[in-house]
Amino acid sequence: MNMPFKKIVVLTGAGISAESGIKTFRASDGLWEDHRIEDVASPEGFARDPKTVHRFYNLRRDQLINQGVEPNTAHLSLAEFEGKFTAQSTDESSNNQFTLITQNIDDLHERAGSKNLFHMHGELLKIRCKHTEKIFPCRENTSIESVCECCSELGNLRPHVVWFGEMPLYMDEIYRSLQQCDLFIAIGTSGNVYPAAGFFELAEAAGAHTVELNLEPSNNGSRFKEQIYGPASEIVPQYLNSLI
Ligand code: APR
Repeated sequence: MNMPFKKIVVLTGAGISAESGIKTFRASDGLWEDHRIEDVASPEGFARDPKTVHRFYNLRRDQLINQGVEPNTAHLSLAEFEGKFTAQSTDESSNNQFTLITQNIDDLHERAGSKNLFHMHGELLKIRCKHTEKIFPCRENTSIESVCECCSELGNLRPHVVWFGEMPLYMDEIYRSLQQCDLFIAIGTSGNVYPAAGFFELAEAAGAHTVELNLEPSNNGSRFKEQIYGPASEIVPQYLNSLI
């Protein structure tokens, strides 16, 4: 692999998982899996109707685990690229760095084998205690009757998902990687939701080359230095191969 980049940051959104069978957020009907986003992705929605919100995430979890959802070639090629790129480092000072930031709550990047991965909007297969903030793996259905392992109380468990109005996770690590990167690639994201929608500007300020890989131009598409449009399962492997 002989290329000019040493510090690569990739941001992924719902579009990378679309061909694995997971619906994107902003489908033309404006609903997320038949629900208004504010009803199932906000602290207010959860406070108003926790039963519906638990049921909603139970269905998403069931889909991810039991309904044949698998990583597609876009997830797989990113993991393969990371392996090759990071193996190439010769000494400490010239280490190649690869950082994958995802807005997705599915686990398809880790199943594909990605290593340096940050789930900035949380993870579907984890649950959190509202009281102690402890996080637990979760592959089962949850309800308002689920008893929390750490405080033994009912009603304290909530999905470990960042909802509207809440602070995304890993922001220190993410900003650090953006400030140092020389290549920034955004894949399958509409550029509607901040702070992720502004990451390309930080990368640009760091002097990075910026690339958008998406089905169609995103909100900020024209501001990327390079733009390639098509299904992620085709254009992501193609683009990564072109770097090698
Ligand atoms: N290949 C590539 N891109 C695709 C594909 C595909 N097969 N299918 C759809 N896309 C593109 C769409 O054109 C769109 O630009 O993926 C993008 C998905 O956009 P959104 O649904 O808005 O998803 P995302 O950008 O990840 O949303 C960000 O918003 O609701 C919140 O927290 C939620 O993480 C989410 C955040």
